[in-house]
Amino acid sequence: MGQETFVYEFVGKKLTEGSFQWSAPSNIALVKYWGKREGQIPANPSLSFTLTHCKTITRLDFQLKEISGISFDLFFDGQSKEEFKPKIQKFFERIRPYCPYIDDYHFVIHTHNTFPHSSGIASSASGMAALAVNLMQLEQGLNPQMDANYFNQKASFLARLGSGSACRSISGAVVVWGAHSEIAASSDYYGVPFDGALHPIFQDFQDVILLVDKGEKKVSSTVGHDLMHQHPFAQQRFEQAPANLSRLKTALETGDLEAFIAIVESEALTLHAMMMTSMPYFILMKPQTLQIIEHIWSFRSQFQIPVCFTLDAGANVHLLFPKAHKTRVMEFVQEVLAPWCQQQHFIADEMGFGAQKIDL
Ligand code: PMV
Repeated sequence: MGQETFVYEFVGKKLTEGSFQWSAPSNIALVKYWGKREGQIPANPSLSFTLTHCKTITRLDFQLKEISGISFDLFFDGQSKEEFKPKIQKFFERIRPYCPYIDDYHFVIHTHNTFPHSSGIASSASGMAALAVNLMQLEQGLNPQMDANYFNQKASFLARLGSGSACRSISGAVVVWGAHSEIAASSDYYGVPFDGALHPIFQDFQDVILLVDKGEKKVSSTVGHDLMHQHPFAQQRFEQAPANLSRLKTALETGDLEAFIAIVESEALTLHAMMMTSMPYFILMKPQTLQIIEHIWSFRSQFQIPVCFTLDAGANVHLLFPKAHKTRVMEFVQEVLAPWCQQQHFIADEMGFGAQKIDL
């Protein structure tokens, strides 16, 4: 489906006012998106697990107004947040060609995250996804014939325009974003649920997020993506990622944990290798990140328990494992890994299914 499918055409109904509320989760990429083209088009396809507990909850109040134009108030944790407004203003400007009705309303946005603000966990994916689904709920009110498939695709399409990885936080437990020949209906414009038969071993996967550094990132993802433009290894990376996605697809379908671990850890280290070999170069890992990785490797080889790690664009470590091993792995987390975390903090999360409407 091309982008023109997502241009809203007036169907004759106007809502005067109302409120909606949605939650949208964070997601963790296993095959990483790092590098993009104009218009938030990813340089390579990516695949993620959707999370459950790390999420943003957003209420959208809307009221029809006389003067056309983008107009909104923003509250984060109940407080007016001027510093977050430029990002939302930019998002509204980007989605305006597809959602011209936003000019007709004044919006009041109340948003909060279930994870601590300063946890080093990016809230842009869940935040943009939560706002996008609310706007789609409004659009559905204007166009009641809309089906669920279009709702999810356009919500993902809009979320992508806010923050690329946000398009993987709308629906599905495993989501692919970016055109890939082996993933049916995959697109550069929105995320689609993984179409393979997920092996039971992966169906309730756990993700313990080890909070190594809760501060703001020194280099933003936007800058990191941009540095892939003149990157000496970019071309190889953009060929490697789809090949890794093909191999991961097979592993997810066959339950091949060994292959899964090798691909996922290699993807995480490759992401950081890209950062370290950019010009200017930068390092987001901390000494504790490496300590934790070493401990994960020792634990896996000593006890033959299939745990592995992945990394986001930051120092925190995501520890991934099948639910069957939860009791033993959580002991390991408490005793061995937590001491390497800032204030011993970690978040135990697990695979989830995407955005959810919350009745008001
Ligand atoms: O969505 P962005 O622009 O914040 O980029 C996210 C990039 C990574 O989190 C590092 C990888 C990914 O695929 O989510």
